[in-house]
Amino acid sequence: MDVHLQQMARFVGFTEEDVELVRRTGPVILAHADEITKAVYDHLLEQPGTSPFFRLPDGSPDEARIANRRKGLARWLTRTAEAKLDYSFAWHMVAMGISHSHRIQKPGSRVPGPFMVGTMSFTQTAVGQILLQDLDDTELAARASVAWNKLLMLELDLLLTGYYSISPPPEDH
Ligand code: HEM
Repeated sequence: MDVHLQQMARFVGFTEEDVELVRRTGPVILAHADEITKAVYDHLLEQPGTSPFFRLPDGSPDEARIANRRKGLARWLTRTAEAKLDYSFAWHMVAMGISHSHRIQKPGSRVPGPFMVGTMSFTQTAVGQILLQDLDDTELAARASVAWNKLLMLELDLLLTGYYSISPPPEDH
């Protein structure tokens, strides 16, 4: 899978310069990790397709679950900012994807693939906005934003691996 990742990195043109740009601007993004994870989960909580995953049976937000998910997302952002496309990174993303594509979650279904794509798009927008807002050098902000976008797409490709081989849900779900 890391060979696949390297091939895809070449395909999208994710260069050493992009690696450096992500690492250099990583601290800028991570300084906003709390804000980003809040924005993502507020969004997932509000959208009709994703809301049931994060609500209790009485319809109120499942705060404990959301807090856990936010920590997980912050860890993922931290790993992304390292931009280290090795064996461990590749398999971690595939495993994370399979936990969404195959695990039957609380409301009785797996996470539908389109929401993985939508969440990544939402994250890309947040990252781009932070870079533009926090960096005085707008050219650097634009180049870094492109580099982050490529990396997030490489991750999305791995996160979607499990979605290519899903079987129907069991009868009792
Ligand atoms: C860019 C897309 C996404 C990323 C990177 C991501 C990341 C993660 C990570 C890292 C975990 C494991 C957390 C941990 O280690 O504690 C996780 C779990 C989970 N995610 Fe996502 N996620 C994404 C999209 C979504 C979407 C769209 C949904 C729901 C509609 C979702 C629902 C869940 C659920 C239900 C769990 C397991 C929670 C549990 O068992 O309590 N995720 N996600």
